Amino acid sequence: MVWIESLVSYPILASAKGRRTIAHRVQSLPPGMVASPRKLIIAIDGPAGAGKSTIASRLARKLGYVNLESGAMYRALALKAIQWDVSFDDGPALVKLAHNARIHLEPSMGGNRVLLDGRDVSQRVREPDVTEAASRVSVHPGVRQWMVARQKEMGAGGGVVMEGRDIGTKVFPEADVKIFLDADPGVREQRRLQQQNVSGAAAHAIVAELRERDRRDRTRATSPLVPASDALLLDSTELSEDEVLRRVEELVQSKLKP
Ligand code: DC
Repeated sequence: MVWIESLVSYPILASAKGRRTIAHRVQSLPPGMVASPRKLIIAIDGPAGAGKSTIASRLARKLGYVNLESGAMYRALALKAIQWDVSFDDGPALVKLAHNARIHLEPSMGGNRVLLDGRDVSQRVREPDVTEAASRVSVHPGVRQWMVARQKEMGAGGGVVMEGRDIGTKVFPEADVKIFLDADPGVREQRRLQQQNVSGAAAHAIVAELRERDRRDRTRATSPLVPASDALLLDSTELSEDEVLRRVEELVQSKLKP
């Protein structure tokens, strides 16, 4: 039995719609997975630190789908705003910047490689100043409109696990599978600190930043972080990563059954 894995490079350019580089790899299907020609759209939303990225990337690998981190696009735009000294509060200027940006996401085994205007900024966009800026640029309706349009193009063909904050509500309200992954705030904070291996004053700063991002994501006027009404709500506070993945896979398999 075989399954197809697609490695996709997406140029997210307003002027270059539809230009995609696709490489196919044939692998054997993992035990227990149902081979299906139907390529689903899977939306995974939730707050920072709930474990979305890990689950989305493991799930995509198992299904032979591409994993797209929508947050990386907001991060890339935020980095461009820093580079061009554009205010994070200036919505129209940020939209203009987005239209002139070349943002590519390249799904890979280790997460999405992020290219901004031809340069690999994968590491840079994870730094604290960009993290804070991404949260701020994402509140503007015009920015969100641009992002949602690009994200719709990227996932339209299916075979995609897209993670973010508004994938099940705004980007793909018609997604085949919608997961809202949450966890107790204290647990999310601890996970983030472990991931980054920090303590002391640096840890305090990270916790404060996470709380502020949470507040902004949940209270912004446009597309606040809320579960879609038909999403599976998964609280990972007391679940292992494997257990979360198992439950998500069960739902996926139920959708793949003829
Ligand atoms: O998932 P992330 O931490 O990389 O996202 C960075 C920021 O982008 C986050 O603070 C909120 C914003 N974001 C968003 O508003 N909508 C999305 N679909 C994804 C991210």
